[in-house]
Amino acid sequence: MKLENKVAIVTGGSGGIGQALCERLAKEGAKIVINYRSSQDEAQQTKEKVEQIGSEALIVQADLSKVDQINHLVQETIDRFGKVDILVNNAGLEKRADFWDVTEADYDLVLNVNLKAVFFATQAVVKHFRATNNPGRIINISSVHEELPFPHFTAYCASKGGVKMITRNLAVELGSMGITINNVAPGAIATPINHNLLNNPEQLKKVTQNIPLGRLGEPEDVSGIVAFLASDEAQYITGSTFYVDGGLLWNYQEQ
Ligand code: BGC
Repeated sequence: MKLENKVAIVTGGSGGIGQALCERLAKEGAKIVINYRSSQDEAQQTKEKVEQIGSEALIVQADLSKVDQINHLVQETIDRFGKVDILVNNAGLEKRADFWDVTEADYDLVLNVNLKAVFFATQAVVKHFRATNNPGRIINISSVHEELPFPHFTAYCASKGGVKMITRNLAVELGSMGITINNVAPGAIATPINHNLLNNPEQLKKVTQNIPLGRLGEPEDVSGIVAFLASDEAQYITGSTFYVDGGLLWNYQEQ
């Protein structure tokens, strides 16, 4: 087991990729803090899965668009498990709209959850790492869209591009403390964020044809690299993005 005696916070840990991350990190021996905003039942299911694996889990409800709730999440973790070693900034959402129709509310929601929360959750955990002299790990679940345009999702792309630069900047600023920060960037993964795509056979066929490995990813395709980046084996890796996309990002073919 790679993560024995480690404590990991997984934001948005109740469903989708987050749930697979909680299970995988638990299998590697980590104690898991499952954050959720509204899916209480799913958070409970995730907790049960972690416990079946033989690890411990704590559920903390928090709306990560609010800095005081982020601080509460980190404090609850420390109160229960005494420390934090790993933060996985996984919570994220997207809203499809033509650019000219995007509302201020939707823009704020996407940027607050996907970017502001990454900034302040990382800040809260880094304060703890500094205070305890712990060279901890930050792993952001970004997207191929930190690089790749995604028409009708401009706020989403802006948020993921921002996460890319948070990672590069903090790799430099936090390196002297041994703290590492990396991005894992999924492509099209079969999770609730892709609900519309999964229910549109024609669109799904087009997306699949564009993926060299010929299928959508599964949450479990993402969790292995996150466990690795959280482990001691990855101590010399920081400031990088790892794509988990079946080859989607660099796919170009002449018609
Ligand atoms: C988005 C999905 C999209 C995928 C590939 C992800 O970041 O959340 O909606 O299907 O990228 O384009």
